[in-house]
Amino acid sequence: MIRKEQFICPYTVYDSPEELDPQDAELMRRAHEATKGSYAPYSRFHVGAAVRLANGEIVVGNNIENAAYPSGLCAERVALFGAMAKYPGVAIEALALTAHSLLKQIGEPVAPCGSCRQVMVEVEQVSKHPLRVLSQGETGPIMVFEGVESLMPFIFLDKFL
Ligand code: THU
Repeated sequence: MIRKEQFICPYTVYDSPEELDPQDAELMRRAHEATKGSYAPYSRFHVGAAVRLANGEIVVGNNIENAAYPSGLCAERVALFGAMAKYPGVAIEALALTAHSLLKQIGEPVAPCGSCRQVMVEVEQVSKHPLRVLSQGETGPIMVFEGVESLMPFIFLDKFL
């Protein structure tokens, strides 16, 4: 029997950071600030990420590129791995993401790449807490996902191993 099925990926759209709760607005502000530390001489696409942990700390990251292109790393993973290295065992509760391009205006939320989404899945599992993901362009609306499943349905999990 053939069945058609579908995933539903809910998210909320906010028109501006002022509409977010103050903690989330601050996290997004830190992500914007973090774009300034990006090392992106090849793409000129400066990504900033900020994660908030259960202990209230915020850890930021930005994309770091390399002449051997695949050796670089996305801002989200720099922030997530940095947070896990600095505060092992502390749950990560939220991640804000944004980008600033030297080539064009980014007016819509940045979509995290698949590898970062896969890492977010495991961060959420280890944290035993939904990972709230907020994304904004340099300007424009903010998308808020209440957990990684909304960003990454049909996930590869350790239960398959
Ligand atoms: N990049 C990120 O840092 N995060 C994303 O979610 C998408 C892409 C970086 C990787 C590379 O340095 C540049 O943006 C262009 O792909």
